[in-house]
Formats: sequence, structure tokens, C-alpha cells
Amino acid sequence: MTDMLLEVENLVIGMRRAGRPDAVIVDDVSFSVAAHERFGIVGESGSGKSLTLRAVAGLLPKGVEVLSGRIAYAGKSLTGMPPQERRRLMGPEIAMIFQEPMTALNPVIRVGEQIAEGPRRHLGLSKKAANTVAIEMMARTGIPDPERRARAYPHELSGGLRQRIMIAMAVSCNPRLLLCDEPTTALDVTVQHQVLKVLEGLCADTGTALIFVTHDLAVVNQTCTDMAVMYSGHIVESGTVADVLGDARHPYTQGLLGSAPDFDRPERRLVPIPGFPPSLTSRPAGCPFAPRCALAVDDCSKAMPTTELVAPGHTAACIMTAGVLA
Ligand SMILES: Nc1ncnc2c1ncn2[C@@H]1O[C@H](COP(=O)(O)OP(=O)(O)OP(=O)(O)O)[C@@H](O)[C@H]1O
Ligand SMILES: [Mg+2]
Repeated sequence: MTDMLLEVENLVIGMRRAGRPDAVIVDDVSFSVAAHERFGIVGESGSGKSLTLRAVAGLLPKGVEVLSGRIAYAGKSLTGMPPQERRRLMGPEIAMIFQEPMTALNPVIRVGEQIAEGPRRHLGLSKKAANTVAIEMMARTGIPDPERRARAYPHELSGGLRQRIMIAMAVSCNPRLLLCDEPTTALDVTVQHQVLKVLEGLCADTGTALIFVTHDLAVVNQTCTDMAVMYSGHIVESGTVADVLGDARHPYTQGLLGSAPDFDRPERRLVPIPGFPPSLTSRPAGCPFAPRCALAVDDCSKAMPTTELVAPGHTAACIMTAGVLA
């Protein structure tokens, strides 16, 4: 028996051609999330963050599938679960917030009704009771005058309010695990900060665990307790946020930190990581970061480095920097 809420083991996501694995996008990804944990996944565009999250939600795009590995929620395998049973978990157990609310909200239904739909369907509430929950949820996400706003259509609201509606919708059935895919990237910095505070407050009040995908290290630092760094479909470093950001071991994590502004040290020169991540079809053999890495040696391009424990609870996959814990 495990006390982990979510366990992802050796997850491989990709495409098949003629029934055979053809392209691997996410490769051998493993992580776990405990109840109440707030787990961040960071990495550049195309690293596989969204697909990893969508695989957990069972919402992979058409043509992309879990090729191997295991995803277990509360000890039950999601990967082998019939789709109908799995769909029943979505809402009351697992909920997802998408990056762009306009694509996830129905433009012709009033937002209050959209929030109320989950509690009606999953919790069996009457229309009136579900509407009351919707308005309560809107108030909890900091939406002013929720009774009036509940009657609005999505296009009548600002980006910040729409994102709060998405949060209200996602938490309306009190899920135990909330999956957030860049929920604040489209917002300006002040609104982003407010929305993150709302999310944090909700998770703290209800004990909901969070997986938070972003490319912004400052957001992970503000929001999460634990994190993984993804590069080209692999997790290259993971641990507590304090360990990974305070004692980064993988050259890619170090590069991300070096290229991100630090408001405590505004005088520090930002150093971008040279080059670009490899495309799906041009992944190098061995460590995918090697072509951009200042520390790379010949051996780096021979085999993907194994993931090593570099300190208790802190792993990295780099033959140069991940001195194995004695
Ligand atoms: N529907 C799809 N069909 C085929 N390939 C896809 C599809 N969606 C994503 N991919 C491939 O998977 C890679 C990883 O995609 P993913 O959306 O997980 O990246 P990401 O880390 O979330 O990036 P971003 O920061 O831009 O959102 C992409 O670079 C793309 O090559
Ligand atoms: Mg994405």
C-alpha cells in the first residue's frame, strides 16, 4: 500500500504506426505526488509537459497515446481502467485547468451554468443547489459580485475572470488532485499573482494536491513544494523546490536559472541557454541536452544518463554533475 495519491512509472507517450510504436515524445517519465503536495513541472516549449499532464487526465490528443508505463491514482491503475470508469473520476477526484480558458469554456452557455454542471452531474445536486455551489465557488476564487457575473457569457469577462471561472469549475466537485496546465501564462503579471494566490488558498483549504505545469521558474517557486524539470521528453532533475532551485545539479536546470530574472538580484546578467531543444525527429543519441551543454563530453552522446539520487529526495540525470549519493 502506498500513501502516494498519484504514481507515474516509466511513462512513455508517443504515436504508433501500423500498431507499432513509431515516435516517442515523452520517454520513461516517473514521478509521484502525495496528497496535499504541490508538484511543479517546468521545461521549455515542446518538452512534453502538457502531454504528461494530459496522460494523467486521460485526455491525450487523437493519435497520441501511452505506449508503456503505468499511471496509478490512489493505488488504482488508470492506464488499465475502462474509459467509462476513468471518466467518472474526472471532476470529483481529478480535475484539470487548461492554459487557454476560451478553448475550454462553452461560448454560448452562461458561466454560472457551466460551473454548476459538474456538481449536478457528479454530486447529484439539484439545479438550485448546484447554482448555489457555483456562486460560492465564484466567490471563493475572488470574483466580485458573483451572482451577477454567473449570468455572463465567457466573452463578456476579462482574461483574469475567465481563468478564475475555470478554477471555480475545476474545484466545484472538490477534487483531490488538480492538474493545471500553464493556467496563468496568458495573464499579465499582477493578475497572474492574484490567480496563483487563489489557487494556493483553495488547495490549502481543501487539501487538494496540485500538479502545476509552467515554463516559469518564479511561478514554481511561488506555488509548488516539489518539482521536476523536463527536457526533450525526459525528467532531467527532480526534488523539493528548495533543493532543485537552490542546489540545481543538472546543467539544463542551471541554464534555466541563469536565464531567468532574479528580482532579489536585478544586477545579475542573464545568460540564455545557447541553441534550441531538439525536434522530435532530430533527437540526438544519448543525453538530449548534450548539444547545448557547456559541460558535455563524448560519453554524453553515447547513452541517456541514468537518473541518480544526488541527495535525499533529489535526483538528476547527468553523468557530469550527478555525483552519486554515497
Ligand atoms: N497532437 C499532437 N500530435 C503529434 N505530436 C504532438 C501533439 N501534441 C504534441 N506533440 C508533440 O509533443 C511535443 C511535446 O508537446 P507538449 O504539448 O507536451 O509540450 P509542452 O512541454 O507542453 O510545450 P509548451 O510549453 O509549448 O506548452 C511537441 O513538441 C510535439 O512535437
Ligand atoms: Mg504545453
